[in-house]
Amino acid sequence: SSILYNDQIIERDNVVEIEDRGYQFGDGVYEVIGVYDGEPLLMDEHMKRLKRSAREIQLTLPVEVNQLRKKLEELVQVNGLEEGIIYLQVSRGVAPRWHEFPSTDTQAVTVAYTREEERDNELEDQGATAVLTKDIRWLRCDIKTLNLLPNVLAKQKAVENNAIEAILHRGDTVTEASASNVFIVKNGELYTHPADNYILNGITRQKILQLCDELELKAHEETFTVDELFDADEVFISATKMDIAPILQVDGKTIGNGTPGNVTKQLVKEFRKLYE
Ligand code: PDD
Repeated sequence: SSILYNDQIIERDNVVEIEDRGYQFGDGVYEVIGVYDGEPLLMDEHMKRLKRSAREIQLTLPVEVNQLRKKLEELVQVNGLEEGIIYLQVSRGVAPRWHEFPSTDTQAVTVAYTREEERDNELEDQGATAVLTKDIRWLRCDIKTLNLLPNVLAKQKAVENNAIEAILHRGDTVTEASASNVFIVKNGELYTHPADNYILNGITRQKILQLCDELELKAHEETFTVDELFDADEVFISATKMDIAPILQVDGKTIGNGTPGNVTKQLVKEFRKLYE
């Protein structure tokens, strides 16, 4: 298949330079964009977040996002992608390995590829289990950077316990999960961690909050504790392409009555309307 390499769509090949700062330092930012029926979903929101992430690490994007967006749409076309994702990353470029920023003439490197991935409707309808683990990440989790080692370790713990996600906590507070945001439902109202420096403000999360507004469901962007998580009526996680996954058990303890809850099901149904 083809990839986007800077401003050109080329055949996938070995394009990694050993002194790419993304490769050596995780010095760059990324996005994962869902593609449904050949159409990227919520592209504007992803481009907006990419711009913000780049700005927060003082990385100048080498291309204007409108142009980048067009290139990504072209890539989806060229690869004939129907269902899947676009992975996009921008690193601070290739330069001799010194920690500080390279000279100003170093060009950031943009790479994007597509991956086929069927939607997991079964997961959305049936739910899954999660584990709980300490959030050991830094204090700028709002930036979608390439540095994902703590997330990788957390997800591995989940997989080793036959769970789909690792829900993270800092002290008593639940932040998010290794690659998704976490919502709880109590007495018909939703709670999710506020979009501050402790979480990534998920595009799916933002959309769900908007849907709650439209459905007149009360949603609070407020922190909640580990005890409140276990005591919730419903728990679900959200992320690109997975969309919404009901969580029926955390660390072996059953949430609510152990089946996907009504609020979660209502949101699943509403979210599907965005692309069906
Ligand atoms: N992860 N929180 C973290 C830490 C994430 O990595 C992600 C997404 C989310 C959900 O964000 P969104 O709804 O915009 O996908 C929350 C992507 C999918 C990934 O790294 O593969």
